[in-house]
Amino acid sequence: MSFSAAQIRKDFPIFERTVRDGKRLVYLDSGATSQKPLSVIEAESDFYRLHNAAVHRGAHQLAEEATDAYEGAREIVAQFLGSPGGADEIVFTKSATESLNLLAYAMSNAPAGNRFALTSSDRIVVTEMEHHANLIPWQQLSARTGAELAWFKVTPDSRLDLSNINEVITANTKVVSITHQSNVLGTINPLDAIVARAHEVGAVVILDACQSAPHMKIDVKELGVDFLAFSGHKALGPTGIGVLWGHMNLLDELPPFLFGGSMIETVTMTSATWAPVPQKFEAGVPNMAQAVGLGAALNYLTNLGMDNVHNHETELTGYLLKKMLEIPDIRIVGPTDTHMRGGTVSFTIKDIHPHDIGQYLDSQGVAVRTGHHCAWPLAKCMNVPATTRASMYVYNNEDDCDALVSAILGAQKYFGRF
Ligand code: ALA
Repeated sequence: MSFSAAQIRKDFPIFERTVRDGKRLVYLDSGATSQKPLSVIEAESDFYRLHNAAVHRGAHQLAEEATDAYEGAREIVAQFLGSPGGADEIVFTKSATESLNLLAYAMSNAPAGNRFALTSSDRIVVTEMEHHANLIPWQQLSARTGAELAWFKVTPDSRLDLSNINEVITANTKVVSITHQSNVLGTINPLDAIVARAHEVGAVVILDACQSAPHMKIDVKELGVDFLAFSGHKALGPTGIGVLWGHMNLLDELPPFLFGGSMIETVTMTSATWAPVPQKFEAGVPNMAQAVGLGAALNYLTNLGMDNVHNHETELTGYLLKKMLEIPDIRIVGPTDTHMRGGTVSFTIKDIHPHDIGQYLDSQGVAVRTGHHCAWPLAKCMNVPATTRASMYVYNNEDDCDALVSAILGAQKYFGRF
């Protein structure tokens, strides 16, 4: 292992507790939300205890300190993503879902002639692998504008089918919005061909990095995408804070989505003009303590080293997959090796419903998610009603994988399969 997960667990107060009558907590649900290190919990509570004031408003010391802390967090995010335009290209939202909705709603606010204005002659492209947060906003934008929604399909071996890339990303495509890493399959999508084709036809590429930014080094310049969204709470940070990164020239041209205080330059009784980016997209008093907590989370990850984080998860995934593939009657719903794959492992066990498996695992102290994981069309495409999903992070180790495997074998006995 690249670092000691056992050592890392000591930074996370939640691992001091036990679950289900004194059992060790085996937390394998970080794809839904990650646990938080003490430094994040303290950064958020220190903001409230020591510096709380509305940012960008008050003429007093606390307001100044709060603003510095909030803007400091923006700098940290900019560095974490390798933002070419620095902190000004970072928009704080309440979640990745809000970041993606912001884009979709802002596009439908675009007047004719604006590069983001869509009509029925345009196309929006997604993939069959999206979770609902990166599917439904585009369905709705399509319904509002008449633009056609098209998508890349998923192959039986859980990869994107790019064989017809030129027929999917057509000359009239304006938006391509894709997940970097599937929240169900663990598949990491290759971006180069998609980005090249999208840019060839003048489309913008939006990357849903919810399941990748917390787990691997991200450099938006290297990825070549135009916008990127991720959530704080999946990256060791608090809930209630999300990020939208975009190239400054694009954010500049994109109309606002939410209107109100702090996003304006001038206001009369009948009109208003907008503040520069990023304030243009941050109406109202923002989630300040949460942004500061996110800054602490990204500092924590950066101290670990994102390449180390990725290597740790890849090694652990290889270990887990090998053990799981030995379980009778198991189907891994996703790639069965570690090539272009993250630490999310979904599976089914013949004749036992995923919810029953999940409940049995919980009785053994193993926390996983069951269901369609907010990616219903993908479940249909993989021909499963639901899966059980284990998703790993920096604090997991081989003991957690062993506990999962042994609990699955226990479930098979319990439900009378073996
Ligand atoms: N998209 C989140 C998950 O995969 C909620 O659990």
